[in-house]
Amino acid sequence: MQLTLEEKEMLAGGQGRATQKAMQILVALGNIYAAERMIPVSSVQVAGVSYDNLGESGLLFLSEMAEGGGRVRVLTTLNPAGMDIQNWCNLGVQPDFAEKQLRVLEAFSRMGVTTTCTCTPYLTGNLPLFAEHLAWSESSAVCYANSVIGARTNREGGPSALAAALTGRTPEYGLHLAENRVPTFTFQVDAGLVETSDFGALGKVIGEKIEASKAIPYILGVQSATLENLKSFCASLATYGGAALFHMPGITPEAAQFCPPDNQITITQADLEAASHSLNDAAEGEVDFVSLGCPHLSLHEIARIANLLEGRQVKKEFWITTARPTKQIADRMGYTCIIEEAGAKFAADTCCVVAPIQRRFTALATDSAKACYYAYAKNKFKTVFLPFDEVVRLALQ
Ligand code: F3S
Repeated sequence: MQLTLEEKEMLAGGQGRATQKAMQILVALGNIYAAERMIPVSSVQVAGVSYDNLGESGLLFLSEMAEGGGRVRVLTTLNPAGMDIQNWCNLGVQPDFAEKQLRVLEAFSRMGVTTTCTCTPYLTGNLPLFAEHLAWSESSAVCYANSVIGARTNREGGPSALAAALTGRTPEYGLHLAENRVPTFTFQVDAGLVETSDFGALGKVIGEKIEASKAIPYILGVQSATLENLKSFCASLATYGGAALFHMPGITPEAAQFCPPDNQITITQADLEAASHSLNDAAEGEVDFVSLGCPHLSLHEIARIANLLEGRQVKKEFWITTARPTKQIADRMGYTCIIEEAGAKFAADTCCVVAPIQRRFTALATDSAKACYYAYAKNKFKTVFLPFDEVVRLALQ
């Protein structure tokens, strides 16, 4: 790789131990992917924040980087942590886990990381512009940044994202290069899409069809989509297909640059119904845990929950997962009061996947295809997959 004088100085240790380690990580990555040079990044989003995933070795790495003088050079935010930082007690998190999780956040904070813990950083101040280069980690946010915004990021691991934050650089390969952003397969959608769960099901169908080939989808037939629809679709497409980029004419900014690739598959209503059906392996009567907010809820979605819960009482453990800044606006708008009076719980800063709740419940009800995948794979829950309002209805039964 060609390195600038400053990058060579970082690699030689002239800017401190942590920066040297960070540059070593990036050079190793660049060599693996035959990058020719480093490029500046304008923002970073770091995954691998929950102590449940990091463990002692991850905490040690972060502590060493902080002690080694690591300091971020660009706006850097975090993925969800393993608990609500202010309200962990009420969610059944044990004190020893909380103590470790707080040490993780303290290490990030010492490096200058903004400890906003969310998978929707674009809703809470880490909002890139078209064509900006980023180093983001969370798969749903990476897909959203590349596709919906038209920014450019590979899906970074936690260490490589932190390394980008500490140097302000990332190796130029993959989705940073225009030639790797060209669509390679057309999907014609002949089905009605309204709910976030419809878009989640679509992400599952397309994701499973591209998982092996790693094709970049060019998706025709989607007439309109809200921000909430798109974040749900991105989460599902990334989960089931490992995709970090798609194009949707009329909706995503780069789609207009391309013609639909010749090879084409049609997605029907029956395909979506089959995908939804496959995410239901529990009866509604088995559900003892309800969660909305994968990816983290927008303010608009929280208002919708408040409207549905006002003056009523939930009968099941019901987590509302969102970013702390979004919850603070919900507090001010009175939504939090309505929701908590109904017996539901906010789980800000965290989510039903990264919290330490393995085997604590039997069956989860959600509108998120991604949450269904990890509910089974990580937490060993069965799942009921429903439209958003239906999930709230089930919590009330
Ligand atoms: Fe976000 Fe957790 Fe879902 S990180 S995308 S809410 S699994």
